[in-house]
Parts: sequence; structure tokens; C-alpha cells
Amino acid sequence: MLGPEHLLTEPDMVAGYVRDWTGRWTGHTPAVVRPGSVEEVQEVVRICGEHSVPLVPQGGNTGLVGGSIPHKGEVVLSMRRLDRLGPVDERRREVTVGAGVTVGALRTHARRAGLEYGVDLSSRDSATIGGTIATNAGGMNVVANGDTRRQVLGLEVVLADGSVASRLGGVAKQSTGPDLLQLMVGSEGTLGVITAARLRLLPRLRSESMVILVGVQTLGEGLGLLGPGSQALEFFDRACLETVVGHRGLSRPLPGDPPFYILVETTSTPDLPDRLEAVVDRTLWAYRDSITETLNQIGVPVKLDVAVPLGRLDEFAVAVAGLGLEGQVYLYGHLAEGNFHVNVLANPDPEMVVDQVLGIVIGLDGVIASEHGIGVAKSVWWQRSTDRATLAVNRQIKDAFDPGRILNPEVFWGG
Ligand code: FAD
Ligand code: MLT
Ligand code: ZN
Repeated sequence: MLGPEHLLTEPDMVAGYVRDWTGRWTGHTPAVVRPGSVEEVQEVVRICGEHSVPLVPQGGNTGLVGGSIPHKGEVVLSMRRLDRLGPVDERRREVTVGAGVTVGALRTHARRAGLEYGVDLSSRDSATIGGTIATNAGGMNVVANGDTRRQVLGLEVVLADGSVASRLGGVAKQSTGPDLLQLMVGSEGTLGVITAARLRLLPRLRSESMVILVGVQTLGEGLGLLGPGSQALEFFDRACLETVVGHRGLSRPLPGDPPFYILVETTSTPDLPDRLEAVVDRTLWAYRDSITETLNQIGVPVKLDVAVPLGRLDEFAVAVAGLGLEGQVYLYGHLAEGNFHVNVLANPDPEMVVDQVLGIVIGLDGVIASEHGIGVAKSVWWQRSTDRATLAVNRQIKDAFDPGRILNPEVFWGG
């Protein structure tokens, strides 16, 4: 049906689709299928359902929780060919795009029309709209624009039986019962295959934003830099700075050696206490933007993506340090959301790291996944830490949408 060039079975052809971005997981598959239209997606899903062959929807394969690759021989349903950019409705500030469009391509498309897409992340040139909706991705600008969920006005989704549920009409407001399509946001390919999305766009900022890097002793101090004009409020620790300076040829941005660095992008000048060292320059984003790739060049990190209440940021950082984890520990993340990306390199027991760090998170009333999702990396912890009532409803939702368990069966429920 798809033609030979869109049905890949040779090991060297499928290799890039069965290994995750971090290199932590490698699976196997009988085939990668690359449909080019919603009708082709429907047909693939229908055939898989008929033969009880599970499949894994895949976008840019930049996911960090092992959810985008076939762990147990599932078919890979690559969505990248659905990359149509619809015309921007400048008056209503909306656009409809295919699930395979990258975040970067959408951002460029919106800018050409004098508008912005509200989500940005370092994986922008590979991560797709379908993947970012399926994981409810966050990124750098959540503080100003909200997460991906906040941008979604409507979706087109292929369900497990091959039928299509669609709401792309662009009606701004609707009061017609529970919104089934919103359930797809964050469902990580387990409830349906997103084929297109109607997205909200934003006006361009009226005033130019400035980028400031500040050295602080505590993260609480960093949070004080949040202001009405904040477009981003990010942090990284001394270990991250040392690593990007050492591996990226970046110069030391500040004279001192503070334990934490706060990167603020803002349209309003923050009140900076005199004792804090600060530097202003747009290129400062390079320090923050290059952390993930640099760590991955050094090794395969244990990656955790958690969030704690804003009043407990330093308590969390101190507790993680108190674990005395073997190897190198790196902390960075999206400070305004209480988000920590805890990365650990060269530790011999990744499972133990996960258990210890997530134990602290739960103890502080935090969440075990802030923006990357559950995938396979946290399925056991998700089942363990979610209350019984919520888990039971989630199981009923899975049963209703995917009774044959053909949609990404290892995510959430595997392990
Ligand atoms: P994939 O990795 O292909 O898939 C992710 C999940 O979505 C899988 O469960 C998959 O089955 C499902 N899926 C994919 N497409 C569809 C579809 N069309 N329909 C249904 N299900 C689908 N994430 C953040 O939140 N914030 C960040 O700041 C951030 N920065 C990153 C920086 C780097 C350098 C890298 C490598 C990753 C980063 N990520 C970040 C993680 C990742 O980019 C996001 O999770 C992104 O949303 C994944 O998009 P993708 O298209 O690559 O999806
Ligand atoms: C980031 O904020 O840099 C991303 O979520 C990627 C990561 O966690 O490394
Ligand atoms: Zn992040």
C-alpha cells in the first residue's frame, strides 16, 4: 500500500528508528512504516489491529523516556511524512499543521506571518508537533506561554480501529461535553495517533527581550528574578557550567564560582540585588541550550525530569546532594515551574538512582514527570505513585480507546 520506499525492514534502514536519542534503549522491529496521509495512517492502524500487531507511533524520536521505540518487536509508525504546514490565519492567530511538522519549522512558518508559536525547546529541529502534543512538552517558554496543551485548539486523531476523530474547525469555544481529543495530549501514543493539530499562535513581543545570566547561592534567590516580563527562567548548576565550558569552548560567563546560574529572558528589567554578579547578552542561551547534547556526548546519562513545589527547590537540591550518588550529578531545568532535570553520568546502578531521586520527589509532594512523560522509564513509578482511583480510570480509558492493546503497549503499563 505504501510502496517499498516507505516500508523499511532492512536492519541498517531501521536502525535509527529502534534506538532512542539518549542511547539508553535499543529495541527491534519487523518494519518501519512511513505513511504520507491520514488515510494511509488509518489503513496501517486498521491492518495492525486486524492482525493484533502492536505499533509505536514515532515523530522525531527525541523523546527522553524510551516511549518512542519498539521494545518488544512492535511496528514503528513513523509520522514524519505528515509535514504539511497549513496557511496561517493571521486574524484569528491560528494554524493547522500535520503531526510530522517539526517545532522549528512551525516557528519559522509563524514568524513569516508576523506571529510566534509559544513552545520552544532545544530539540526544535527534530521534535514534531505530534510528539510534543503526545508528551505535552514544556520547554523554555512555559512561564510566559504555558505548555503544549495550552496551544492546542483541536486535533485530528486516528483511533485504534482505524477510524478518525477530528476537530480542526477552529471554533474558539465549545461546551459540548468532555473533550475526548484533549485526552490525547500527554497520552504518549497509547490512546490514538495524532495526525494533525489546530494550534494557537501568539503576537510577537512588543518590546525586545534581554537575556541575563546571574550567579546565585540558592535557587530560591533565583526565583526572585521572576517578573511580569519573564519569557524564560532557567537554571543550571556549577557542574553543568564546567561541562559546557570544557566541551563547547565557551568562555566563563561570570568572574565568580557560584553554585547555581539563573538565565532570565525578560522584557522588563529585573531588580537585581547589588551583591549578585550578572551579565547581559543574547548569546548566553548557548550555555543552557547545549547542556543536553554535551552530556550525551560524554556518556549515557540517567535522566530524570521532575518538579517540586516552588517553596521546596533548595530542599530538593540539598537532598539530592545528600544522596552522595556515585558518578557525576548535573542539575538544570526550568526554574519557574519547579522543574529539575537530574542527570547522572557514570553511575553503575541507574535503577537505584531513579528510586532514590523519585523517592525524594514524592516526599516533597512533587511530580515524577514534569515534561518528558512517563514512557517506559517511569512506568513502574507511575503505577506505584498514582492513587488507585486515578489508575483505575486510566485503565478504563485505555480499555475504551485501545481494547486490543495495539497502541504503544509498553508505555505506562509495561514493566
Ligand atoms: P518522539 O520522541 O518520536 O515520541 C515521543 C512520544 O510521543 C512517544 O510515546 C510516541 O509514541 C509519541 N508520539 C510521537 N508522535 C506521535 C503522534 N503523531 N501521535 C501519537 N503519539 C505520538 N522535552 C520537553 O518537554 N522540554 C524540553 O525542553 C526538551 N528539550 C529537549 C532537548 C533535547 C536536546 C532533546 C533530545 C529532547 C528534549 N525534550 C524536551 C524531549 C523531546 O524533544 C520531547 O519529548 C518531544 O515532545 C518529543 O517529540 P518527538 O517528535 O521527537 O516525539
Ligand atoms: C532541557 O530542558 O534541556 C530538556 O528537557 C532536555 C533534558 O532534560 O536534557
Ligand atoms: Zn526541559
